[in-house]
Amino acid sequence: MKTMTCIEDLRQTARRKVPRAFFEYADGGAYAEQTLRANRADLARLNLRQRILLDVAGRKLDTAILGEPASLPLALAPIGLCGMQHGDGEILACRAAQAAGIPFTLSTMSICSIEDVAAAVDRPFWFQLYVMKDRGFIRELIERATAAKCSALVLTVDLQILGQRHRDIKNGMTVPPELRLSNLLDIATKPAWALSVMRGKRKTFGNIAGHIKGMENVNELSQWIGGQFDPTLSWKDVEWIAGLWKGKLILKGILDVEDARMAARTGAAALVVSNHGGRQLDGAPSSISMLPKIAEAVGSDIEILFDGGVRSGQDVFRALALGARACLSGRAYIYGLGAGGEAGVARAIEIMRNELDVTMALTGVKTVGEIGRENLAAM
Ligand SMILES: Cc1cc2nc3c(=O)[nH]c(=O)nc-3n(C[C@H](O)[C@H](O)[C@H](O)COP(=O)(O)O)c2cc1C
Repeated sequence: MKTMTCIEDLRQTARRKVPRAFFEYADGGAYAEQTLRANRADLARLNLRQRILLDVAGRKLDTAILGEPASLPLALAPIGLCGMQHGDGEILACRAAQAAGIPFTLSTMSICSIEDVAAAVDRPFWFQLYVMKDRGFIRELIERATAAKCSALVLTVDLQILGQRHRDIKNGMTVPPELRLSNLLDIATKPAWALSVMRGKRKTFGNIAGHIKGMENVNELSQWIGGQFDPTLSWKDVEWIAGLWKGKLILKGILDVEDARMAARTGAAALVVSNHGGRQLDGAPSSISMLPKIAEAVGSDIEILFDGGVRSGQDVFRALALGARACLSGRAYIYGLGAGGEAGVARAIEIMRNELDVTMALTGVKTVGEIGRENLAAM
């Protein structure tokens, strides 16, 4: 792992190790992938202000996220089918996050279930919720997250309907993958991946399988999920969920100032400025371009988290400079997972930690709390 010097190295390794259908599922975005590209391009455009001779010894990267100490202003984002990048991927990523002292978020669409992860780690993690039409099932999921002592509920609000990802259709990306000759040949060239997935606890949606009557078979289950995303979802449902969940609530998928104002009024502890990593509304602005407006409008009422395109410690610094308290990492850690399991996720976090530390030193900042707009170079 030592020769993996940046997230792009992990990405290239993951591309070699993970079957194409799953790698591209993670790597790609919706439709023409315009928003996916904008997330990266707009971050890269923000130049940092180089400062000198400021005595930057004894820098501190730790912070608090939702009032809990974190060693870095970073958390791992919810990733559906994380356990298909590497067997038991959710458990491995959660362990790596906890060892690094940052939060991990388990997706509703994970392979390992809430209970699997809770039994395999020793500290609480966050649980991400998709609200489905079957509200009885959602109520049960919330109860399960409570029983597993999850420390926050991340309610994703930007996926009432699924944005089309062309690559998934072309690759036959289903769970399990379509049994096409090309997929079988591809998997045959990735024996380490196949072994890890075969040995993994589960091969399907762990939070759902066995919890819906008559849905034991994987194909029936996939169909059920496909029909369950709920276009009627509204602020009323957020209220309903806030009533059921007694812990901290995070609203994920806010990209508009008006929506951010509504989110702040719900009493949620935090919101995540996010366009789902460019996987939903193609043509939406990059998340970094919306962050300063949202932070300005509601930053004093609700904690602001950020995701979309974060691939380095410099990116974390940029988001903090524009008003985020912390970032969520999606693909960056998923590449690490595909490249090297738990060690790969740990490496992804370490890379971003080191980059953030050096960036702080060279911009003349000693603590993450000091990072502000003045640390960006005037354009
Ligand atoms: C492969 C993949 C699966 C994802 N699955 C979920 C999910 O199940 N729930 C969710 O709220 N967001 C999901 N997201 C969005 C991420 O949580 C996050 O918002 C996004 O990845 C951030 O952008 P980045 O990948 O550029 O860091 C997913 C993203 C990817 C790449």
